[in-house]
Amino acid sequence: MSPVRNTKLSIIGAGSVGSSLAFAALIRGSAREVVLYDLNASRVDAEVLDLAHGRQFVGASRITGGADIELVADSDVVVITAGAKQKPGQTRLDLAATNARILEDLMPRLVELAPHAVFVLVTNPCDVLTVVAERAVDLPAGRIFSSGTVLDSARLRWLLAEAADVAPQSVHALIMGEHGDSEFPIWSDATIGQTPLRDWTDESGTRLFPRERLESLTSDVVHAAYKIIEGKGATNYAIGLSGARIVEAVLQNERAILPVSSLLTDYRGISGVALSVPSIVGSQGVIRTLDVPIDEVEVDLLHRSAEELRASLAHVL
Ligand code: LAC
Repeated sequence: MSPVRNTKLSIIGAGSVGSSLAFAALIRGSAREVVLYDLNASRVDAEVLDLAHGRQFVGASRITGGADIELVADSDVVVITAGAKQKPGQTRLDLAATNARILEDLMPRLVELAPHAVFVLVTNPCDVLTVVAERAVDLPAGRIFSSGTVLDSARLRWLLAEAADVAPQSVHALIMGEHGDSEFPIWSDATIGQTPLRDWTDESGTRLFPRERLESLTSDVVHAAYKIIEGKGATNYAIGLSGARIVEAVLQNERAILPVSSLLTDYRGISGVALSVPSIVGSQGVIRTLDVPIDEVEVDLLHRSAEELRASLAHVL
Protein backbone atom coordinates (compact mmCIF):
# COMPACT_ATOMS: atom_id res chain seq x y z
CA MET A 1 0.00 0.00 0.00
CA SER A 2 1.24 3.49 -0.75
CA PRO A 3 1.91 5.69 2.31
CA VAL A 4 -0.72 8.29 3.22
CA ARG A 5 0.21 11.57 1.58
CA ASN A 6 0.02 14.73 3.66
CA THR A 7 -2.71 16.36 1.60
CA LYS A 8 -3.79 19.92 2.32
CA LEU A 9 -7.18 21.38 1.46
CA SER A 10 -7.85 25.07 2.05
CA ILE A 11 -11.37 26.43 2.01
CA ILE A 12 -11.80 30.16 1.41
CA GLY A 13 -14.91 31.50 3.15
CA ALA A 14 -16.35 30.24 6.43
CA GLY A 15 -19.98 30.95 5.59
CA SER A 16 -22.53 28.16 5.51
CA VAL A 17 -21.11 26.63 2.30
CA GLY A 18 -17.44 26.78 3.35
CA SER A 19 -18.14 25.42 6.82
CA SER A 20 -20.35 22.63 5.50
CA LEU A 21 -17.65 21.74 2.98
CA ALA A 22 -15.11 21.56 5.81
CA PHE A 23 -17.50 19.37 7.81
CA ALA A 24 -18.09 17.07 4.82
CA ALA A 25 -14.35 16.86 4.08
CA LEU A 26 -13.59 15.94 7.70
CA ILE A 27 -16.24 13.26 7.90
CA ARG A 28 -15.30 11.79 4.51
CA GLY A 29 -11.57 12.03 5.23
CA SER A 30 -11.13 13.93 1.97
CA ALA A 31 -7.79 15.52 2.99
CA ARG A 32 -5.30 15.04 5.80
CA GLU A 33 -5.28 18.73 6.63
CA VAL A 34 -8.31 21.00 6.24
CA VAL A 35 -7.81 24.76 6.59
CA LEU A 36 -10.72 27.18 6.81
CA TYR A 37 -9.96 30.83 6.02
CA ASP A 38 -12.22 33.88 6.27
CA LEU A 39 -11.71 37.63 6.65
CA ASN A 40 -14.10 37.57 9.59
CA ALA A 41 -11.87 36.36 12.44
CA SER A 42 -14.53 35.76 15.08
CA ARG A 43 -16.69 33.79 12.62
CA VAL A 44 -13.90 31.60 11.29
CA ASP A 45 -12.37 30.98 14.72
CA ALA A 46 -15.75 29.86 16.03
CA GLU A 47 -16.38 27.53 13.05
CA VAL A 48 -12.90 25.98 13.34
CA LEU A 49 -13.31 25.41 17.06
CA ASP A 50 -16.73 23.86 16.60
CA LEU A 51 -15.37 21.53 13.89
CA ALA A 52 -12.21 20.71 15.85
CA HIS A 53 -14.25 19.66 18.88
CA GLY A 54 -15.60 16.78 16.81
CA ARG A 55 -12.19 15.54 15.73
CA GLN A 56 -12.34 12.51 17.98
CA PHE A 57 -15.25 11.23 15.91
CA VAL A 58 -13.67 11.57 12.47
CA GLY A 59 -10.60 9.96 10.89
CA ALA A 60 -7.10 11.37 10.82
CA SER A 61 -8.06 14.71 9.26
CA ARG A 62 -6.99 17.82 11.12
CA ILE A 63 -8.86 21.15 11.01
CA THR A 64 -7.22 24.53 11.53
CA GLY A 65 -7.95 28.01 10.25
CA GLY A 66 -8.35 31.69 10.92
CA ALA A 67 -8.25 35.14 9.34
CA ASP A 68 -4.62 35.00 8.22
CA ILE A 69 -4.45 34.18 4.50
CA GLU A 70 -0.92 32.81 4.91
CA LEU A 71 -2.59 29.69 6.35
CA VAL A 72 -3.34 28.71 2.76
CA ALA A 73 0.39 28.33 1.91
CA ASP A 74 1.33 25.19 -0.03
CA SER A 75 -2.20 23.81 -0.30
CA ASP A 76 -2.82 21.02 -2.78
CA VAL A 77 -6.40 22.15 -3.37
CA VAL A 78 -8.02 25.50 -2.69
CA VAL A 79 -11.81 25.63 -2.76
CA ILE A 80 -13.29 29.11 -3.00
CA THR A 81 -16.68 29.66 -1.41
CA ALA A 82 -16.24 33.32 -0.41
CA GLY A 83 -18.59 35.95 -1.77
CA ALA A 84 -22.05 37.43 -1.54
CA LYS A 85 -24.80 34.80 -1.65
CA GLN A 86 -28.03 34.44 -3.56
CA LYS A 87 -30.95 36.24 -1.90
CA PRO A 88 -34.53 34.95 -2.30
CA GLY A 89 -35.65 35.68 -5.87
CA GLN A 90 -32.14 36.53 -7.06
CA THR A 91 -30.48 34.45 -9.79
CA ARG A 92 -26.92 33.23 -9.53
CA LEU A 93 -25.97 35.57 -12.35
CA ASP A 94 -27.19 38.63 -10.40
CA LEU A 95 -24.30 38.01 -8.08
CA ALA A 96 -21.71 38.04 -10.83
CA ALA A 97 -20.24 41.53 -10.63
CA THR A 98 -19.88 41.66 -6.83
CA ASN A 99 -18.21 38.30 -6.62
CA ALA A 100 -16.01 38.89 -9.67
CA ARG A 101 -14.32 41.85 -7.94
CA ILE A 102 -13.76 39.79 -4.77
CA LEU A 103 -12.16 37.05 -6.84
CA GLU A 104 -9.92 39.38 -8.83
CA ASP A 105 -8.41 40.49 -5.52
CA LEU A 106 -8.11 37.02 -4.09
CA MET A 107 -6.75 34.90 -6.93
CA PRO A 108 -3.26 36.41 -7.37
CA ARG A 109 -2.68 36.21 -3.64
CA LEU A 110 -3.85 32.61 -3.45
CA VAL A 111 -1.72 31.52 -6.39
CA GLU A 112 1.30 33.21 -4.84
CA LEU A 113 0.75 31.28 -1.61
CA ALA A 114 -0.20 27.95 -3.20
CA PRO A 115 1.43 27.94 -6.64
CA HIS A 116 0.89 24.21 -7.22
CA ALA A 117 -2.70 24.00 -6.05
CA VAL A 118 -5.77 23.11 -8.04
CA PHE A 119 -8.41 25.82 -7.59
CA VAL A 120 -12.08 24.88 -7.35
CA LEU A 121 -14.65 27.66 -7.58
CA VAL A 122 -17.86 27.11 -5.66
CA THR A 123 -18.88 30.77 -5.27
CA ASN A 124 -21.74 31.69 -7.62
CA PRO A 125 -22.15 32.26 -10.44
CA CYS A 126 -19.45 29.61 -10.56
CA ASP A 127 -19.22 29.31 -14.38
CA VAL A 128 -18.73 33.04 -14.90
CA LEU A 129 -16.31 33.28 -11.99
CA THR A 130 -14.18 30.46 -13.40
CA VAL A 131 -13.42 32.66 -16.41
CA VAL A 132 -12.82 35.69 -14.16
CA ALA A 133 -10.38 33.63 -12.07
CA GLU A 134 -8.60 32.30 -15.18
CA ARG A 135 -8.03 35.85 -16.37
CA ALA A 136 -6.79 37.08 -12.98
CA VAL A 137 -3.83 34.66 -12.92
CA ASP A 138 -1.66 32.67 -15.28
CA LEU A 139 -2.14 28.97 -14.55
CA PRO A 140 -2.06 25.96 -16.88
CA ALA A 141 -5.44 25.04 -18.40
CA GLY A 142 -7.54 22.88 -16.14
CA ARG A 143 -5.98 24.00 -12.84
CA ILE A 144 -8.99 26.27 -12.24
CA PHE A 145 -12.46 24.83 -12.58
CA SER A 146 -15.77 24.99 -10.79
CA SER A 147 -18.07 22.54 -9.05
CA GLY A 148 -20.48 23.25 -11.91
CA THR A 149 -23.32 20.77 -12.19
CA VAL A 150 -21.92 18.05 -9.93
CA LEU A 151 -24.58 19.05 -7.39
CA ASP A 152 -27.34 19.47 -9.99
CA SER A 153 -26.53 16.01 -11.37
CA ALA A 154 -26.69 14.61 -7.83
CA ARG A 155 -30.10 16.24 -7.42
CA LEU A 156 -31.30 14.66 -10.65
CA ARG A 157 -29.95 11.24 -9.72
CA TRP A 158 -31.60 11.45 -6.31
CA LEU A 159 -34.97 12.37 -7.83
CA LEU A 160 -34.76 9.51 -10.36
CA ALA A 161 -33.58 7.11 -7.66
CA GLU A 162 -36.50 8.01 -5.39
CA ALA A 163 -38.97 7.52 -8.25
CA ALA A 164 -37.45 4.18 -9.28
CA ASP A 165 -36.76 3.08 -5.70
CA VAL A 166 -33.08 2.30 -6.31
CA ALA A 167 -29.81 3.77 -5.01
CA PRO A 168 -28.72 7.11 -6.53
CA GLN A 169 -25.35 5.48 -7.28
CA SER A 170 -27.16 3.13 -9.70
CA VAL A 171 -28.68 6.00 -11.66
CA HIS A 172 -26.52 7.29 -14.50
CA ALA A 173 -27.76 10.70 -15.54
CA LEU A 174 -26.14 14.03 -16.02
CA ILE A 175 -26.90 17.73 -15.99
CA MET A 176 -24.78 19.78 -18.40
CA GLY A 177 -24.35 23.51 -19.07
CA GLU A 178 -24.61 26.45 -16.68
CA HIS A 179 -24.90 25.79 -12.94
CA GLY A 180 -28.11 27.78 -13.08
CA ASP A 181 -31.25 28.45 -15.04
CA SER A 182 -30.08 27.30 -18.50
CA GLU A 183 -28.76 23.92 -17.33
CA PHE A 184 -30.30 20.80 -18.87
CA PRO A 185 -30.29 17.01 -18.44
CA ILE A 186 -28.83 14.59 -20.96
CA TRP A 187 -31.67 12.13 -21.37
CA SER A 188 -30.30 10.44 -24.53
CA ASP A 189 -28.05 8.03 -22.68
CA ALA A 190 -29.47 8.15 -19.13
CA THR A 191 -29.77 4.71 -17.57
CA ILE A 192 -30.85 3.07 -14.34
CA GLY A 193 -28.43 0.19 -13.92
CA GLN A 194 -28.07 -0.95 -17.53
CA THR A 195 -31.66 -0.07 -18.50
CA PRO A 196 -32.27 3.02 -20.63
CA LEU A 197 -34.42 5.44 -18.61
CA ARG A 198 -37.26 5.40 -21.14
CA ASP A 199 -37.53 1.58 -20.76
CA TRP A 200 -37.53 1.54 -16.97
CA THR A 201 -40.76 0.11 -15.55
CA ASP A 202 -42.09 -0.53 -12.09
CA GLU A 203 -42.98 -4.07 -10.98
CA SER A 204 -46.35 -3.91 -12.71
CA GLY A 205 -44.66 -3.09 -16.03
CA THR A 206 -45.67 0.59 -16.15
CA ARG A 207 -43.10 2.90 -17.68
CA LEU A 208 -42.11 5.41 -15.01
CA PHE A 209 -40.45 8.08 -17.08
CA PRO A 210 -42.61 9.33 -19.97
CA ARG A 211 -41.66 12.70 -21.49
CA GLU A 212 -43.89 14.79 -19.17
CA ARG A 213 -42.30 13.19 -16.13
CA LEU A 214 -38.83 14.02 -17.43
CA GLU A 215 -39.88 17.61 -18.02
CA SER A 216 -41.16 17.98 -14.48
CA LEU A 217 -37.98 16.39 -13.08
CA THR A 218 -35.88 18.85 -15.08
CA SER A 219 -37.86 21.73 -13.61
CA ASP A 220 -37.43 20.31 -10.09
CA VAL A 221 -33.65 20.24 -10.54
CA VAL A 222 -33.44 23.74 -12.01
CA HIS A 223 -35.59 25.14 -9.18
CA ALA A 224 -34.08 23.07 -6.38
CA ALA A 225 -31.79 25.76 -5.00
CA TYR A 226 -34.51 28.45 -5.18
CA LYS A 227 -36.81 26.23 -3.17
CA ILE A 228 -34.21 25.66 -0.46
CA ILE A 229 -33.23 29.34 -0.36
CA GLU A 230 -36.89 30.27 0.15
CA GLY A 231 -37.10 27.96 3.10
CA LYS A 232 -33.77 28.49 4.87
CA GLY A 233 -31.90 31.30 3.12
CA ALA A 234 -29.10 29.24 1.59
CA THR A 235 -28.09 25.80 0.41
CA ASN A 236 -25.11 24.29 2.18
CA TYR A 237 -25.09 20.55 2.92
CA ALA A 238 -25.28 19.01 -0.54
CA ILE A 239 -22.91 21.58 -2.05
CA GLY A 240 -20.55 20.84 0.83
CA LEU A 241 -20.66 17.12 0.03
CA SER A 242 -20.26 17.77 -3.71
CA GLY A 243 -17.21 19.95 -3.03
CA ALA A 244 -15.63 17.30 -0.80
CA ARG A 245 -16.20 14.66 -3.51
CA ILE A 246 -14.46 16.84 -6.11
CA VAL A 247 -11.53 17.48 -3.75
CA GLU A 248 -11.06 13.71 -3.36
CA ALA A 249 -10.91 13.23 -7.14
CA VAL A 250 -8.04 15.76 -7.22
CA LEU A 251 -6.13 14.67 -4.12
CA GLN A 252 -6.32 10.95 -4.98
CA ASN A 253 -5.59 11.65 -8.64
CA GLU A 254 -8.67 9.56 -9.37
CA ARG A 255 -9.27 10.54 -12.99
CA ALA A 256 -12.94 10.47 -12.08
CA ILE A 257 -15.44 11.65 -14.67
CA LEU A 258 -17.41 14.52 -13.14
CA PRO A 259 -19.57 17.26 -14.67
CA VAL A 260 -17.38 20.17 -13.59
CA SER A 261 -17.10 23.51 -15.33
CA SER A 262 -13.89 24.66 -17.00
CA LEU A 263 -12.98 27.17 -19.67
CA LEU A 264 -13.84 25.47 -22.96
CA THR A 265 -11.84 25.56 -26.17
CA ASP A 266 -13.79 24.35 -29.19
CA TYR A 267 -16.05 21.99 -27.27
CA ARG A 268 -18.68 21.29 -29.93
CA GLY A 269 -17.77 24.71 -31.31
CA ILE A 270 -17.92 26.50 -27.91
CA SER A 271 -14.90 28.54 -26.75
CA GLY A 272 -14.20 31.28 -24.22
CA VAL A 273 -16.87 30.37 -21.64
CA ALA A 274 -16.87 27.87 -18.81
CA LEU A 275 -19.73 25.45 -18.39
CA SER A 276 -20.15 21.90 -17.19
CA VAL A 277 -19.38 18.97 -19.44
CA PRO A 278 -18.19 15.52 -18.37
CA SER A 279 -14.53 15.94 -17.50
CA ILE A 280 -11.71 13.74 -16.27
CA VAL A 281 -10.59 15.13 -12.89
CA GLY A 282 -7.27 14.29 -11.25
CA SER A 283 -4.25 15.86 -9.59
CA GLN A 284 -3.83 18.42 -12.38
CA GLY A 285 -7.48 19.47 -12.16
CA VAL A 286 -9.47 19.00 -15.35
CA ILE A 287 -7.29 16.72 -17.43
CA ARG A 288 -9.66 16.36 -20.35
CA THR A 289 -13.21 17.27 -21.32
CA LEU A 290 -15.20 14.47 -22.93
CA ASP A 291 -17.46 14.61 -25.89
CA VAL A 292 -20.52 12.54 -25.03
CA PRO A 293 -23.24 11.32 -27.35
CA ILE A 294 -25.98 13.95 -27.18
CA ASP A 295 -28.92 14.49 -29.51
CA GLU A 296 -29.77 17.58 -31.58
CA VAL A 297 -32.03 19.10 -28.93
CA GLU A 298 -29.28 18.73 -26.32
CA VAL A 299 -26.67 20.26 -28.63
CA ASP A 300 -29.00 23.21 -29.08
CA LEU A 301 -29.50 23.54 -25.30
CA LEU A 302 -25.72 23.41 -24.79
CA HIS A 303 -25.21 26.29 -27.21
CA ARG A 304 -28.03 28.30 -25.63
CA SER A 305 -26.51 27.82 -22.20
CA ALA A 306 -23.13 28.97 -23.58
CA GLU A 307 -24.78 32.09 -25.03
CA GLU A 308 -26.43 32.92 -21.68
CA LEU A 309 -23.05 32.65 -19.98
CA ARG A 310 -21.31 34.66 -22.67
CA ALA A 311 -23.82 37.47 -22.13
CA SER A 312 -23.31 37.54 -18.35
CA LEU A 313 -19.56 37.33 -18.76
CA ALA A 314 -19.71 40.44 -20.96
CA HIS A 315 -21.34 42.31 -18.04
CA VAL A 316 -18.64 41.31 -15.63
CA LEU A 317 -15.37 41.54 -17.54
C1 LAC B 1 -26.96 25.36 -5.19
C2 LAC B 1 -26.01 26.49 -5.01
C3 LAC B 1 -24.72 26.00 -4.49
O1 LAC B 1 -27.28 25.01 -6.32
O2 LAC B 1 -25.83 27.20 -6.19
O3 LAC B 1 -27.39 24.79 -4.17
